[in-house]
Amino acid sequence: LFGVPAKEGPKPKIATDITGSPIYYDAFVQKHKSNERVMVQGLKGDPTYLLLSKDGVSLENFALNAECSHLGCIVPWDENQQKFICPCHGSIYDAKGSVLRGPAPSSLKLAKVTTEEETGKVLLEPWIEDDFRSGEKPWWI
Ligand code: FES
Repeated sequence: LFGVPAKEGPKPKIATDITGSPIYYDAFVQKHKSNERVMVQGLKGDPTYLLLSKDGVSLENFALNAECSHLGCIVPWDENQQKFICPCHGSIYDAKGSVLRGPAPSSLKLAKVTTEEETGKVLLEPWIEDDFRSGEKPWWI
């Protein structure tokens, strides 16, 4: 099974790895471990994290844009601390990208993760619904 099929809405984009090759859901999940955050090329080529679920058998249905909401530095995942920690000015985000410490004003942007039914390729599309982390409208649209 390839997770949630893509629905009508903004045009999805195939997530690609660093070499530009498409990411296949099943192979990707098998290759990575539970709770891992893996950077891929997302919408507009933005560095974007795909998130392995806690049990490691699926991807979360949301991805995180890796650009810090402060001044746009790329925020690495710190596996030991299970947080995203910005190297530029020290902002900290939790494992779902919610901001825990500034100066970042907002959480990491979300993107929606689906799959192409016929091929099992991972698709990303803009997240236009309320941000489930805050219950508010997304700040990025
Ligand atoms: Fe990330 Fe400033 S750019 S804290």
